Amino acid sequence: MNGTQAILIGCRHLGDRSTISQALACSAPLHFVEDGWACMEKLQAETISLLIVGGDLAGLGGLELVRSVRSKAQFADLPIIGLCEPHDRSTAQRLARSGVHCLPRPVKPGALAAAVMRGRAARTERSWQTLPTLPRKTLSQSKALYDAISLDGGQVTTESLTIVREAAASIVDLAGTQGMPEMLEALSRHDTYTFVHNVKVASLLAVFSQSLGVGRHDCELLAQAGLLHDIGKMRTPLEILHKPSRLTADEWRIMRQHAPDSAEMMRRSEQVDAEIILVAERHHEKIDGTGYPFGLKGTQIDNLSVLAAIADVYSALTDHRPYKAGMPPEKAFDIMQTMAGSHLEPSLLKRFVTVMRDTITGAGTGMADAAE
Ligand SMILES: [Fe+2]
Ligand SMILES: [Fe+2]
Repeated sequence: MNGTQAILIGCRHLGDRSTISQALACSAPLHFVEDGWACMEKLQAETISLLIVGGDLAGLGGLELVRSVRSKAQFADLPIIGLCEPHDRSTAQRLARSGVHCLPRPVKPGALAAAVMRGRAARTERSWQTLPTLPRKTLSQSKALYDAISLDGGQVTTESLTIVREAAASIVDLAGTQGMPEMLEALSRHDTYTFVHNVKVASLLAVFSQSLGVGRHDCELLAQAGLLHDIGKMRTPLEILHKPSRLTADEWRIMRQHAPDSAEMMRRSEQVDAEIILVAERHHEKIDGTGYPFGLKGTQIDNLSVLAAIADVYSALTDHRPYKAGMPPEKAFDIMQTMAGSHLEPSLLKRFVTVMRDTITGAGTGMADAAE
């Protein structure tokens, strides 16, 4: 479980500490230490997902600290970011030889946040190499899709639509096999929230629709809709998307904008199936008409969006976030029962809970507890 893995920062400079706090407040719990020896102790005692090393450590200095860390097999691939004086090329080169990503001081918050996200994601993605072929292929296709849309500035291009079809086909192949819980477990260790959530919703929809006897073409369509349903969140500021406390009314307004944004991003491409766009636009509608963005009621909401709302709520409740572990499946089911008839369609919800218990959470068949 990666959601609550902390970042360790060895740094004494007050200005750097303040910039780091500000840049990474939404990423993970942060542990600051001022001494290199204390850094080593903390690394051994806690689960740390990334180390940031300033050049002004007391006790064990920055270079020595990096050498000590790398000498231990369990930290051989720990992502390390070094904060270096811009004129001190020799230190930067020595750190780089130990696999340290160097950033010049004074560090810029945006560059630091991006380096942290890349470092942690690369480590998680390397761990996928040990998975069997189909879960590994599904994760790399889905990540390639997320990266393609991000790199294209939120545009859904012909290339990304080819990848979405391939990834959705792999997800449907995985549905109903032991590989699905394994893939979901590996996925949950990645901390790019929107990527993880979209793939999880797509996977739940594939499993659910297959169990309802939906044909292969429509199962793939639903998986595609899941993979794309929240791409509008790529436009949502991270400080809102990852805010650990309650959102203000203004922040909620911005958060809710992701549904029309997802639809708009797809409509612009003029190549996405209309059903997929509707799911993106309407997955937050509630059957009693109190949802958003349109306040549609009952049969005004298309069937695929009604199914997607169930998978979306389950995923949102069980997803790990930087500051909290996901809810256990049974607790999520209890909460979802209270939404039956108001937010979620009751008979489909009942069926969803049975299917998830049987195939994903392990409560029905003893399969791995992969939805956590
Ligand atoms: Fe959403
Ligand atoms: Fe969602």
